[in-house]
Amino acid sequence: MTDGLFVTFEGGDGAGKTTQARLLEQWVAAAGRTVVRTREPGGTEVGALIREIVLHHRGDVAPRAEALLYAADRAHHIAALVRPALERGDVVIQDRYLDSSVAYQGAGRVLGRDEVRELSLWAAEGLLPDLTVLLDLDPAAARARLDAEDKPFDRLEAEKEAFHTAVRAEFLALAAAEPTRFLVADASRAPEDIASEVRARVRTLLGEAPDDVGAAD
Ligand code: TYD
Repeated sequence: MTDGLFVTFEGGDGAGKTTQARLLEQWVAAAGRTVVRTREPGGTEVGALIREIVLHHRGDVAPRAEALLYAADRAHHIAALVRPALERGDVVIQDRYLDSSVAYQGAGRVLGRDEVRELSLWAAEGLLPDLTVLLDLDPAAARARLDAEDKPFDRLEAEKEAFHTAVRAEFLALAAAEPTRFLVADASRAPEDIASEVRARVRTLLGEAPDDVGAAD
C-alpha cells in the first residue's frame, strides 16, 4: 500500500494532456503537496533512450517488439521513479500509462487488448492509478490542434485517422469498464473548465473538503 496519490492523463495525441497535467501540478503544489510530474514513454534516462526507438525509429518495429519496448520503459519508470515517490507520500501526475498501451498496441494494432494489459501489469507489478483522466476528443479536432502547432509529426502521430478513431473507442471502452478509476472529460472545452472538473475529483481523493484549498483555485 502507498500513501501517495497516482493520477494519470490519457487520450489521443493533441487532446491537451500536457496542459492539464501542468495545471493540476500547479494546483496540487499550491495546496502544499509534493508533486512528481512525469510521463511515459521517456520518464527516466533509460526511458528516454527507449522513447527514441519507439517514436523516432524509421521503418517498422514488429508489434510484439513495440509492446515490449513500452513495457520495458514502464517497468523501469515505475520501479525507479513512481513507486518510490508514492511511498514517500507524493502526488504523481503522469502523462500516459498502461491504458495507452492497451488503446494503441492492443486495439489499434494486431495484439489482443487483454495480453497487452497483462504485459503492462506484469511490468508495473500490478500498480494501477488512483485516478485516470481520459481527455476525450474527436480525432479530427485533435488533428487540427496538432496542425496549428506547426511541428513535424512523429511516427505514431502520422498514422491515419482510422487508427486514431479506433484508439479513441478503445479508451472510452476502458473508461466504461472501470468507472471508479476513470474520469472522462470532454476535451473540446476550455482548458480551465476541464481543469476545474479534474480538481474536483482530485480534491475528493486527497480527502479535502471542497473549500479547503480554495486559495489555489
Ligand atoms: P506522447 O509523448 O504522450 O505524445 P503526445 O503528446 O503526442 O500524446 O506519446 C507518444 C506516443 O506514444 C503517442 O502517440 C502514444 C504512444 N504510446 C503508445 O503507443 N503506447 C504506450 O504505452 C504509450 C505510453 C504511448
